[in-house]
Amino acid sequence: MTHIPHSRNNLLAPPPRLLMGPGPINCYPRVLNAMSTQLVGQYDPVMTGYMNETMALYREVFMTQNKQTLLVDGTSRAGIEAMLVSALEPGDKVLVPIFGRFGHLLTEIAERAGAQVHSIEVPWGEVFQPEQIEAAIKQFQPKMVATVQGDTSTTMLQPLAEIGEICRRLDVILYCDATASIGGNALETDNWKLDAVSVGLQKCLGGPSGSAPITMGERYLEVINKRRHVEAGIRNEHHYAGEGSRIRSNYFDLPMIIDYWGDERLNHHTEAASMLYCARECAINLLDEGIQSCIDRHKVNGDAMLAGVQGLNLTPFGDLQYKMNNVVGVYIPQGVDGEAVRHQMLHNFNIEIGTSFGPLHGKIWRIGTMGYNARPDCVFNTLQSLETVLRRNGHKLGLGEGVDAAMSVYGK
Ligand SMILES: Cc1ncc(COP(=O)(O)O)c(C=O)c1O
Repeated sequence: MTHIPHSRNNLLAPPPRLLMGPGPINCYPRVLNAMSTQLVGQYDPVMTGYMNETMALYREVFMTQNKQTLLVDGTSRAGIEAMLVSALEPGDKVLVPIFGRFGHLLTEIAERAGAQVHSIEVPWGEVFQPEQIEAAIKQFQPKMVATVQGDTSTTMLQPLAEIGEICRRLDVILYCDATASIGGNALETDNWKLDAVSVGLQKCLGGPSGSAPITMGERYLEVINKRRHVEAGIRNEHHYAGEGSRIRSNYFDLPMIIDYWGDERLNHHTEAASMLYCARECAINLLDEGIQSCIDRHKVNGDAMLAGVQGLNLTPFGDLQYKMNNVVGVYIPQGVDGEAVRHQMLHNFNIEIGTSFGPLHGKIWRIGTMGYNARPDCVFNTLQSLETVLRRNGHKLGLGEGVDAAMSVYGK
């Protein structure tokens, strides 16, 4: 008899963690169910029907009329990479305002696409004023501004409406990564004149990572369609090639992905059907609740967590007027070992809170209240457990004050 190693024989049984970090978070139960739904073929009319439905749902989620609203298969970074590599030709100029780790990611991806990147920076914990962006555009004359909306590394939310106006007036394409903010903070693609937006599921949309919804407006499409090249094996006489240089990535070639999602259904990848089911469910879940109600729920639970950590005698990080609704940064108190606290939260209470990156590493924790976990019971359990762990690690605090402070926010 063949020996089956013990681990292969075991049922998959992860511990029942409560994920209160900056994402991923626990999925909505209906999203989990959707992922275990049986597959159909990729050109089955049922499947293409689901694809069309998903496009329509995400138009609502992004608050846009953009026809080209679809999914890139892969995590949020796949959406970012597809957006940048499809638009940027070697030598193209891009302006990246960096206010945290993910601005650096945009820079890195744009540079790999061969673009000439000009970045401007503010200290982590702050955001840009519109005049700063306008001045940088006038000085550098980029083809595109690529920015993050909510940067989870700092918890800050960059206001975008005025930047959209500026980019339209100065004829610059505006691309935005709204992975961490969508669903928990306002994002109005058309009203704010955003030309291209990409997101992910694993934050306020309450799904797992692995699908990147994107939306593309006419100005962005004009740029990428100049680089349209249909693969030889599927090309017909009526397919034309754009005059621009060929997009350097095949997998992230958005004109080809658009053709796959379009009426012609030109073969590209095999759509990740289980992730599409999941992305569809995340959108339905959000729209059933109502976009504004979902944002309000993130706001009240985020405010309760903020008041709660202050009640635990902790200091929040950054300029709070620009804090995202769904995550708060908290300074690790002097004399307390931040990793020991996270370890005890995880192993004694099954609760995960986040560490941090770069200049904030070892200085702050990040605590999220997002998606399925933007709920009072999650806030109370986290604060109550954190109180115990902090007290046992020598931090001075008043008993019960974290939960009480959070409760008074809900009581308002
Ligand atoms: C703003 C932002 N952009 C991009 C990403 C990268 O997402 P992924 O890990 O799904 O590729 C994250 C993940 O935390 C994020 O917060």
